[in-house]
Amino acid sequence: MRYQPVSARSAPVLFLSFLSLLQPAQTVKHENFKTCSQSGFCKRNRALADRAHAAGASWAAPYELDEKTLQLKDGVLTGKIWKTEAGGIELPLQVSLFENGIARVTIDEAQRRTGEIILRHDSKARKERYNEAEKWALVGGHKFQKTAAMETKEGVTTIAYGLDSYEARITHKPFSVQFLKRGEVYVVFNDRGLINVEHWRSKVEKAEGEGLTEDEETYWEETFGGNTDSKPRGPESVALDITFPGYDHVYGIPEHATSLSLKETRGGKGNYNEPYRLYNADVFEYETDSPMTLYGSIPFMQAQKKGSTVGVFWLSAAETWIDVIKTKQNPHALTTEKASTQTHWISESGLLDVFVLPGPDAASVYRQYGELTGFTTLPTMFSIAYHQCRWNYVSQDDVKDVDRKFDKFDIPYDVIWLDIEHTDGKKYFTWDPLTFNKPESMQKTLAKRDRKLVVIVDPHIKNDGNYAVNKEMVEKGFGVKDKGGDKVYEGWCWPGSSHWVDCFNPAAVNWWKSLFKFDKFVGSTPNLWIWNDMNEPSVFNGPETTMPKDNIHHGNWEHRDVHNINGMSFHNATYEGLRIRLGNGKERRPFVLTRSFFAGSQRSSAMWTGDNQADWPHLQQAFPMLLANGIAGFPFAGADVGGFFGNPSKELLSRWYQAGAFYPFFRGHAHIDAKRREPYLAGEPYVSIIRDAIRLRYSLLPAWYTVFHRASWEGMPILRPHFVMFPDDEAGFAIDDQFFLGDTGLLVKPVVKESATETTVYFPDDQVYYDYFDFTTYHRKGHHEVPAALEKIPLFMRGGHIIPRKDRPRRSSSLMKYDPYTLVISVSSEGAAAGDLYVDDGETYAHQSGAYIHRAFTLKDNTLHSTNLHPEPAKAAAYNKNMRSVRVERIVVVGVGKEWATKKEVEVKQGSKTWKAKVIYTEGKDGKANTAVVRDPKASITKDWSVSFT
Ligand code: NOJ
Repeated sequence: MRYQPVSARSAPVLFLSFLSLLQPAQTVKHENFKTCSQSGFCKRNRALADRAHAAGASWAAPYELDEKTLQLKDGVLTGKIWKTEAGGIELPLQVSLFENGIARVTIDEAQRRTGEIILRHDSKARKERYNEAEKWALVGGHKFQKTAAMETKEGVTTIAYGLDSYEARITHKPFSVQFLKRGEVYVVFNDRGLINVEHWRSKVEKAEGEGLTEDEETYWEETFGGNTDSKPRGPESVALDITFPGYDHVYGIPEHATSLSLKETRGGKGNYNEPYRLYNADVFEYETDSPMTLYGSIPFMQAQKKGSTVGVFWLSAAETWIDVIKTKQNPHALTTEKASTQTHWISESGLLDVFVLPGPDAASVYRQYGELTGFTTLPTMFSIAYHQCRWNYVSQDDVKDVDRKFDKFDIPYDVIWLDIEHTDGKKYFTWDPLTFNKPESMQKTLAKRDRKLVVIVDPHIKNDGNYAVNKEMVEKGFGVKDKGGDKVYEGWCWPGSSHWVDCFNPAAVNWWKSLFKFDKFVGSTPNLWIWNDMNEPSVFNGPETTMPKDNIHHGNWEHRDVHNINGMSFHNATYEGLRIRLGNGKERRPFVLTRSFFAGSQRSSAMWTGDNQADWPHLQQAFPMLLANGIAGFPFAGADVGGFFGNPSKELLSRWYQAGAFYPFFRGHAHIDAKRREPYLAGEPYVSIIRDAIRLRYSLLPAWYTVFHRASWEGMPILRPHFVMFPDDEAGFAIDDQFFLGDTGLLVKPVVKESATETTVYFPDDQVYYDYFDFTTYHRKGHHEVPAALEKIPLFMRGGHIIPRKDRPRRSSSLMKYDPYTLVISVSSEGAAAGDLYVDDGETYAHQSGAYIHRAFTLKDNTLHSTNLHPEPAKAAAYNKNMRSVRVERIVVVGVGKEWATKKEVEVKQGSKTWKAKVIYTEGKDGKANTAVVRDPKASITKDWSVSFT
């Protein structure tokens, strides 16, 4: 079946088969997705911003903090804000100050009032503002700054907190908050007076002829694309303007196909006219360079100015729009300053709940964000190797054939994937009885080379009375309900009529987890892992291809309240199912790929950027998207290599593999109508080019894994943009087409333009940079033209790093487990270098009990040292024993002096023993660095040792 344009997918099945004869359109259908002015609450809040702007200094938001209600206790300030309209609306305020410097501001609507509201329909919708987003997004365990002190003077309450002289200055009338560190304002709430809490109200029936105001027209009902949202609770949006004074770049708020440094959204040359939208949706044939919503949402934004980084996290699971504008003035600066960024956040429902992350640098912001929402999971080794997917491998023989061909062509891969066609009539947890009747033996074949299988399991469950999963789900009441709250919701997706599992329900989650047990998911083996797709959720006949907002979830929350968390609730449940299926004590780290995500998804899954197209703009677009995901705490991210829709030219496919080798999640995938394009089919020279790219990924797996490990405990992005690495170099703040791989010193500028033979690379400092492959040296900060013919990946090593590699080509990553290492040293201009290596079994949780190796490598005073970084080495004893024969077999020293020419051997010292190892010197010609290769120093990966080059 063809993947349909949205309009076609919203039609019943008979109509589908007719339309499937049509070619899919090449661009997104804008008319299927709302603009801000088609979304009542966004339009109203933007209009309010316009009125405030027009009124200028005379504008004051009708929100006043009631001074006498303020109380500060153990780091938490409570009080009441009065919205002075509509006879006075009471809004409880809470300002929490955390030990790590984070401040949280939460504004609710008094229960007394909301309880009184008469719902418009006889609806089951809960009479409370949604307040459970934190249950899903936050990891808890935050410590409050108990020593925080408060002082009130002339209508301003100042709270001093934290070690770094943090202050929150709260002006009472109108309510606004300035956040300061060491006297400097870095974030301001309600700077422009755009705060808005649309209070709950009963509908006033108007007399005939009285008419509704334009605003009121969307208060109680809203229709779009033929679907009507019954809005039982009426208007309830929350909005706030947040200014970053003196910060001229903002990043984050994935997922959008846009630049890393976010553009302005209120029109003007090169700017967008629409706000960035966060409303997880299946956007068919999404376009590049657009603020349109996509499949996932992380409402986290980072602001950057020279030498300072701060962040805000807007905790709302509802549809959200964010306007960004930049101004030349900064009224909060003590001295004249550069441009400021003003943002305007608008969500449809729930609490107003915002966290301010004070930095002061990028690393601190990522740590703070990770402490709030959790760090990225440490993936299994196989999952960061290469994955081969298409919609669909048509049979088990097809799978085995692809598996064989990879070997025949000496191309490594770890995982082969099965899309929806492998099932029996789109019933997940089943196999097509004709084409996949021996799933276990197929998995056994793959396991011979330690390869894995991933199969798809989507959240829509075929509405078929004979399908056990559906029957159980409906009988137990585990499906999402329609707006009445009693009947299971029915919509259309791949299987036709479907129901949706409600993973907001803990009992439904327990049941879902049980479906992955081997006796339930018959034909699955421990080598099988899961892909969760369509979990926005995608509903072909739903409004904007998703679920009606007035559907009811567990706890009687409306879908509108939880929409952006829906995908995460589902992939979390899948993850847990996989984690426990082998039984207690035998857990292995699961691999789950999800399309839809929210803040917190990083704790369990990987994501990919959905249905891109096989064209150059989509290749180019992927990196800014992956960078944005990485800085928003979800770095295990990739894009379909080759492009999902369409057929890439061989040049594009080759370039895409070269780029994909630097995606944290590296998977080739293609649409069902696309021509077969497994790497070995490309013909020469393309097969070799692709093989080299994949092998490059495999040889660098030790470095990748070490970088992932760092992300998993300190939140540093895996692909690091320039502004993270060089926070004082403003020339790099908007760069998003080249980046560093963790702290390996590897700088890559993938080619994303057709027919390129050269490209321009920006070196951000005067340190020496070496071409990774031929050691050409570059010494000067600035832009350089570098060669980039088709077989060349512009990849550089910054001087001063040591990169661990494994250079023996293997068929899969597991087969490399005990292979020896190569250390590549890029000597700095000062003659030094450093790096590290993290190793564990790559699949279990034993590392959490200390079963891992972590070594530091340092080159100083002509001696290379390997020293232990494991804080409790005794806990690694058994693992070390297992790994003791794994050695360093080669040390490549790039950038050595001429004096090395006479050196024939070096001395290796390990414990009380010393021995010699051979050195081969090569003089660099034509601008290339001199290199020295130490052959088989036989130094163990588990022990301290040194190699003296003097
Ligand atoms: C949509 C996904 O984005 C795509 O990757 C997949 O192939 C199709 N669904 C079919 O499952």
